[in-house]
This record gives sequence, C-alpha cells and structure tokens, in this order.
Amino acid sequence: MNRTIIRARLLSFLREPQTPDDHTSFHYLEDGGLLIEDGMIREMADFARLDATGAKVIDHRPHLVMPGFIDTHLHFPQTQVIASWAAELLDWLNDYTFPEETRYADPALCAGMATRFLDRLTDHGTTTAVAYASVHAASAEALFAEALKRNMRLITGKVMMDRNAPKGLLDTAQSGYDDSKALIARWHGKGRLGYAITPRFAITSTPAQMEAAQTLAREHPDCHIQTHLSENHAEIALSCELYPEAKDYTDIYARYGLLRENSLLGHAIHLSDREIGALAEAEAKPVFCPTSNLFLGSGLFDDSRLRAAGLTNAIATDIGGGTSYSMLQTLAEGYKVLQLQRQRLHPFRAFHWITRGNAVALGMADRIGTLEPGSEADLVVLDAQATPAMAQRMERTRGLVDELFTLQVMGDDRAVVETYVAGVPQKH
Ligand code: GUN
Ligand code: ZN
Repeated sequence: MNRTIIRARLLSFLREPQTPDDHTSFHYLEDGGLLIEDGMIREMADFARLDATGAKVIDHRPHLVMPGFIDTHLHFPQTQVIASWAAELLDWLNDYTFPEETRYADPALCAGMATRFLDRLTDHGTTTAVAYASVHAASAEALFAEALKRNMRLITGKVMMDRNAPKGLLDTAQSGYDDSKALIARWHGKGRLGYAITPRFAITSTPAQMEAAQTLAREHPDCHIQTHLSENHAEIALSCELYPEAKDYTDIYARYGLLRENSLLGHAIHLSDREIGALAEAEAKPVFCPTSNLFLGSGLFDDSRLRAAGLTNAIATDIGGGTSYSMLQTLAEGYKVLQLQRQRLHPFRAFHWITRGNAVALGMADRIGTLEPGSEADLVVLDAQATPAMAQRMERTRGLVDELFTLQVMGDDRAVVETYVAGVPQKH
C-alpha cells in the first residue's frame, strides 16, 4: 500500500468560526502529520504520534498545510478574456466573452485548454472547481477527461443557451437537453466527477429551453444546477422583460424548478426581500464573486443580509469576469467588498469559507474541505513569506491569525508551495 506522511503545521476547520476567538472551530497542529493512503487521509495527529513505518515522509515545515481550496464558480472557456476592457456585464459578454467561447467548438483546442486550465487551478492551490464549460459538448468532454486523468474533483456542465448570442454559440432546447443528458450518462459520478445542469442565465435561454433544463433537473436530482442571478441592473431588466409572467428574476428560475439545495447562483447581488426569502426556502446557494463584481462594476454582495435569512453563501473566482485564479486574492477582494458595507470578515472565517465552507455549500463536506480522517487528500501548502514584501510583513507577525491575514491580503500563487490532488503533488 502506498503510505505517505505529510509533516507540517496543519490547519483544518470543523465548523464555521462564530467569533474571532472561536478556537474550538478548527484543529491546528504546530508539528502535525497527515497519513495518506491511496489518495485518502487516514490519520491527522501530532507527527510524533504517527507510526511512520514503511511510509514516505515529506517534510513541509515550516509551511502551513490546509485542505485544498474550492472554487465554486468559474468559466473554463474564459481564461483568455480575463482583463478585457468593457463598460459592464452585457457589453463584456457580447464584445469579448461570447466571441471567445465560439472557439471551443474545436475539440483539439478544448483538450489543450483543459490541461492549461487545470494547471492554473492547481498552481493557485485550488483542488476542486465548479466550472461552466462552453455550449459545445466537446468542451465539457475535454474538461472531464483531463480531470479524470488527474483524479481531480471537478463539477462542470455544458452551458445551455439558445438565444441572444452569436450563432456559433447556440444550441436548441432539444439539443441542449440531449447533449446534457449524454454528458451526465457518461461522466456524472465517474471518478471524482460530477455534472452541473447549466442554463447560462435567463437572457440566453428561451422558455422552451428552461423547460428542458427543468426536465433534466427533475430527472437528475443529484446533479448540481448552476446559473447566474441578479448580477447587474441591465441584466435584471432584460430578464424580467423576457419573462413577464415571473414576479422577479429569482422567480424565473423558481418557475422552472431550478431552485433547490444543490443550485449554485452566481452573483446574487441585487435581490429583494421576497427573492431572498424564496432562495432561503429552496436552500439554494448564492455565490459571492468579489473580483468579478468589482471588475465589471456589478455591485456589492450583501453577505450579512443573505446569511441573516438563513442562506449559506459560497465564494468563487468567476474567471474570466473575475480577475484572479487565486482564492486568496478572492478573499482579499471579498474582504474589501464587505468592509465597504461595514461587514467584518475575520481570517478564520475567510479560510473556513474557501475550504470547508464551500464544501458545505456543495454538499461535499464529508469528502473535501477538511483534513479529517476519511477525507480525500487534496491539500495546499502555503508560505506566508513567499515574496520579499510578505517576508518583511511577517517579521512583525503576531501568530496564526496574522499569518492567515497576510496570506489572504498579500498572497497569490507565489504563496502556494505545493498542491496535492488525491495525495499526488501537482506543482513539482
Ligand atoms: N452571466 C451570464 N454569463 C455570464 C458570464 O460568463 N460571466 C458573468 N460574470 N456573468 C454572466
Ligand atoms: Zn459566471
């Protein structure tokens, strides 16, 4: 049997920290060891207490090992539209993003980009992603195939879109249903892969296509559903115009049975109390995309208001509206968005969010987002002194909270020393 022990400082959350002093919400081991067998974590303990017989020991001291980061919303075909200069969401989609996504009709391009996409994720310490593919089944195929090769946990789905986009980017209600159905049969539940039923957003799906998505959702209750909701005022106005019978934007998705516990709703910024109540009732999961919301000028995600209604919010990069693959940078910008609303994000809660918190939002906390025995061995190794500026800051550190906050505010892929996917190092 393949036995490895990772020796390092270890940090893993058991539940969401309620206050900055909630030290029972996590495990922190100063000289810890993780025993990994066949891609799974078997033991987490002080290093001295582990039986190292026959095990290969990898010593990452003095670095900090955490569960690999989880990115709950990003777009596979948008790696080359990051940093596109546009006024706001709909211009950005029409002028850059839709034309770029038409290129993903080519399976050879998809295969090459899938390799590069997953490399970028692991470069940045991300070990689980929930990604939109393009409208082309080939794009989802390529991404699934590459993730399977790496034994990486990945949820994706071909986008369903049958109007208001260039011809090369449209399916039909029927072909969107058929292609999604075939992809689910081929990939959902294979290895560490899962399928997300993916109607892009109300603007690009006809009522007939929404019905097709509803049928898929009904037929596959264990598939995630992902779409965009209330990101931008022009988007909201056009959505409500296209679905005049709906009470509001959220009600469009509700009417087609697309709101449920495993629905991920990107952005969810401009919502009424009624909409928040409907989301809470369905236990759907809003997804905070801070770098994207700032970059496109979409608005400020009101984390406290949604949480007060009982919602569990996920957090994500939203590449390529988002500007960084780094979940650390995502937290940095998220922190600032919340500061502007006088909401305080403590570093313990921040690091819980991008690990166990996102795992809870995905319904996967029994498998990922933690270092508890029985979890999959997806890990990130972090160095808070990775750059000269970080090292200089860390000369005056006051302990773990300071270290985490330095990583969050100043860190990116340079702070990621190594990333393990199912126990296998990805960077070196
Ligand atoms: N709404 C519909 N499609 C998209 C997309 O690709 N990115 C963002 N940020 N919003 C969207
Ligand atoms: Zn998105």
